[in-house]
Amino acid sequence: MSKTITITGAAGQIGYQLAFRIASGQLLGNSVKVNLNLLEITPALDALKGVAMELEDCAFPTLGKVSTTDDAAAAFGDSNFAFLVGAKPRGPGMERSDLLIENAQIFSAQGKAINNNADKDIKVLVVGNPANTNALIASANAPDINPRSFSAMMRLDHNRAIAQLANKTNTHNSEIRKVAIWGNHSTTQYPDINHALVGSKKASDLVDETWVREDFIPRVQKRGAEIIQARGLSSAASAASAAINHMRDWELGSSENDWVSMAIPSDGSYGISEGIIFSYPIVCQNGDFSIIQDLDLDNFSLDSIKHSEKELLEEREAIKHLL
Ligand code: NAD
Ligand code: LMR
Repeated sequence: MSKTITITGAAGQIGYQLAFRIASGQLLGNSVKVNLNLLEITPALDALKGVAMELEDCAFPTLGKVSTTDDAAAAFGDSNFAFLVGAKPRGPGMERSDLLIENAQIFSAQGKAINNNADKDIKVLVVGNPANTNALIASANAPDINPRSFSAMMRLDHNRAIAQLANKTNTHNSEIRKVAIWGNHSTTQYPDINHALVGSKKASDLVDETWVREDFIPRVQKRGAEIIQARGLSSAASAASAAINHMRDWELGSSENDWVSMAIPSDGSYGISEGIIFSYPIVCQNGDFSIIQDLDLDNFSLDSIKHSEKELLEEREAIKHLL
């Protein structure tokens, strides 16, 4: 079996991690050959050819054909999975929403190219910021593709929340289950451990409320900026890793008795406006996802979720001409 995978911005920081991990079988396993379609802007094509040469030099048994192009129509041709990474990253002192107008055009053009060229059952993950609203733009420009094929990445925030909780409780990441990130991939996101488990214990019995409100939540919300401050560049290896987690679980199923966080088109669950790309606790099965329903949310959680919804509605308003 072989699958075609498109990576945009493939010569960039995240793309450079992602391409090799996918080529080595970490996305779809060892029995699937992957053909990589790598898209870049014209000035980055030489660098992209270098990436393709290095992929060749790895002699991965799971890698089929590699193509490099600056033509979106070619890059999305018959694509089964697309990682939309190519976009400008923020620098120190910027919010992700500061990138909205600059990056929006990319996602309307790529939405159209997906619509006209990709496999109709494609799965699309938007990583380029502001990821949620970029996913909305791409989906709105792809009227022949099911909107549920478009998602935005919250898995990095989800993984960050797991790591912070494991550190605090002096346990291992593998013991943490059912954390959730709600809302936008921005500082308004709501990292929620009210339903989380550490081994067989409730996380809320192991950590105090002050730590959750004053340390945990702001830490996860602002972790992207913390990385930019430390590296002078935005997160890349952790972002690529989370992107693989997201797409792999979506395609092959998430772990039993656990949740993942994915930003997907809201169906109105938990009173969130329909259509915006909102992150919920999710389970994936049979190549599809469903939102965990009927969770008890306290007033702090409800207010936090509404705050993030408001930001997403404002972002949608700012780019409504592209929808
Ligand atoms: P980068 O600047 O290293 O790479 C981006 C690449 O995209 C560049 O090589 C650039 O030439 C290319 N590009 C720009 N416009 C393009 C277009 N129209 N088509 C194809 N390629 C194009 O940036 P990076 O560090 O890899 O980050 C990429 C994006 O991912 C940024 O917007 C960043 O903020 C975002 N990001 C999101 C998350 C998340 O959790 N959602 C995490 C980390 C980074
Ligand atoms: C992150 O969360 O690390 C990315 O979205 C990059 C950023 O701008 O914070």
